[in-house]
Amino acid sequence: MRNIPFCKVICDGNELKYVREVIESGWLTTAGKCVEFEKQFAAKVGAQYACAVNSATAALHLAAEAVGIGPGDKVFVPTMTFTASAEVIRYLGADPVLLDMEYGAALITPEILAQALRKHPDAKALVLVHFGGQAAEMDGILRLAKQHNLKIIEDAAHAFPTRYHNRMIGSFGDVTCFSFYANKTITTGEGGMLATNDETIYNRAKVMRLHGINRDIWDRFTAKKANWEYDVVAPGFKYNMPDINAAIGLAQMERAEEFRVGRQRCAEFYYDHLSGAAGLDLPICHGPHDNHSWHLFWIVLNGKCALDRNTFIERLNEAGIGTSVHYKPLHRMTYYRKRYNLNPSDYPNAERHWQGVITLPVYPGLSNDDLAYICDTVTKLEKTP
Ligand SMILES: Cc1ncc(COP(=O)(O)O)c(C=O)c1O
Repeated sequence: MRNIPFCKVICDGNELKYVREVIESGWLTTAGKCVEFEKQFAAKVGAQYACAVNSATAALHLAAEAVGIGPGDKVFVPTMTFTASAEVIRYLGADPVLLDMEYGAALITPEILAQALRKHPDAKALVLVHFGGQAAEMDGILRLAKQHNLKIIEDAAHAFPTRYHNRMIGSFGDVTCFSFYANKTITTGEGGMLATNDETIYNRAKVMRLHGINRDIWDRFTAKKANWEYDVVAPGFKYNMPDINAAIGLAQMERAEEFRVGRQRCAEFYYDHLSGAAGLDLPICHGPHDNHSWHLFWIVLNGKCALDRNTFIERLNEAGIGTSVHYKPLHRMTYYRKRYNLNPSDYPNAERHWQGVITLPVYPGLSNDDLAYICDTVTKLEKTP
């Protein structure tokens, strides 16, 4: 019997070597490795500034705070996302306005945003999720943002390395947030990165990352000035990334493109072997496959599939195939549903996706033999009368 996990971390490059360097240095918190990780990451995504933190949730919180989101503000957030994209808006006393998605790509489109702006012309920002690792249509979205003075906070938790028109995601909107959680495209165990070209956003995020202190620890201990002296300019947070995590991130980043190509092989295998199945809808990829990070690949069981989604998942599980569901939409989550009195009928595309979605395994170490077994099992189940 096979046992194919849903995801698998690869950590057999320079991770141990760089972590050893940190441990032997005697400095385990945020210092030189973190600064190096920020420098290399910024260069990789083409942003002027990068600020490493201990999660993408932290990066999103800092980003929303730095662009000026405050109590009573309205912020657009897709309903088809992880709760972190919306919860950070609530941290600041603002209100997420949930938006439906494009069926197939699970993305916010310029049309969806334009419609939302007609209804809520006073919205302050959009948390734009590059769902599954595919970039949203930035040209149209940025044009609307400019016209309506809307801040764009990109949630790129799935989207490293992702390109839009062959330019890396990381500097399109006002600020972009990445995740290095264990199941992401590269990992630091737990971790995140905020990237921006806006010096004011960067400076604010850097200060708020560490208690609102106006000098970071590394600066205090490397500068010539008395190292005990610092000021607190705001009630900040404790979101810095320790050097042990940054060391893992540096090693992972060296292999980011190799990992991406490995995931693309999985996605292309699924497209080649599942495209003919009448009961399955496959994800729509708008641009060249090379631009996509391929963090997620899903199937949606449509009306022609006799099995319901939950039974399908159980059968895959019995066949030794790990799966997941991305996502139960936020409008169905108790907190958002009750607080904002939300109704599923207002989110038809997200509902259609959610009712049938199953996320399949995608990772560089997944063999073509296992992929063939997955496709064979899925195809047989899809045909089950
Ligand atoms: C779309 C999205 N945004 C934000 C996050 C939060 O990431 P982190 O766990 O690094 O805080 C996740 C994590 O799964 C995510 O999928």
